[in-house]
Amino acid sequence: MSFKQKLNKELIPSHIAIIMDGNGRWAAKHGNARIFGHEHGVESVRSVVEGAGEVGVKYLTLYAFSTENWARPKEEVNALMALLIHAIEEETEKLNKNNVRLGVIGDTNQLPTEVREKLFRCIDNLSPNTGLTLTLALSYSSKWEIIEAIKNLAEDVKEGNIQPKNINKELFDNYLSTRDMPDPELLIRTSGEYRISNFLLWQIAYSELCFVEKLWPDFRKEDLFEAIYEFQGRERRFGKTSEQIEAN
Ligand code: IPE
Ligand code: IPE
Ligand code: MG
Repeated sequence: MSFKQKLNKELIPSHIAIIMDGNGRWAAKHGNARIFGHEHGVESVRSVVEGAGEVGVKYLTLYAFSTENWARPKEEVNALMALLIHAIEEETEKLNKNNVRLGVIGDTNQLPTEVREKLFRCIDNLSPNTGLTLTLALSYSSKWEIIEAIKNLAEDVKEGNIQPKNINKELFDNYLSTRDMPDPELLIRTSGEYRISNFLLWQIAYSELCFVEKLWPDFRKEDLFEAIYEFQGRERRFGKTSEQIEAN
């Protein structure tokens, strides 16, 4: 039986976040330049977006480029930006057919103008869709996001719109770029690295973490289903005891 068939339809995470890692190593394994791996990663994105839609995931957030990634060699950054433009142009129609909405989180002002324009046009075009919400984390880092949130919150306090004593988790959530989504129940990282690399630090406070050995360009929807299957076998206790959870 495939992992997809084994899934409990009542227990599909509503939000899955993925750190898509290992493109460079995949390219090296195939005797090619790093960008070759990034290009092949697009096929994995396609497959995973499709798979997420098939099993009823509502939100899929993909870490595509971190603020730290700007420090990579200029040729790689430029090639990644060109690939992004190409992928947006190529994929919009398919995304639309699959009823996918697109969003972006991150410091998009840092992106080249052409990327930004194409991206926001694509987001606009797909905005009437009602299926999966695909969010790209681009020029994103969690510490950047949290600092931005604090700046905006401080402004609102200064203006007298908010009393410091009224600041709580829910209010802070509303200052983050993920304000319109639930926190991810499941976070997946590929390529056998066991770290978070500045991704959604606040939002993953209680996410289940799934680290897989496969490099991103080898990852397909069946691997996503396997991760969801593993997720469904976990006991999420949120600080309570096992006995309390079972009694419920
Ligand atoms: C992930 O793959 C894609 C980006 C970070 C843009 P990497 O490029 O980090 O590949 P590895 O980790 O070096 O193999
Ligand atoms: C994390 O991957 C960022 C993305 C997947 C976009 P990195 O390859 O940049 O992370 P580190 O540097 O190995 O932690
Ligand atoms: Mg990497």
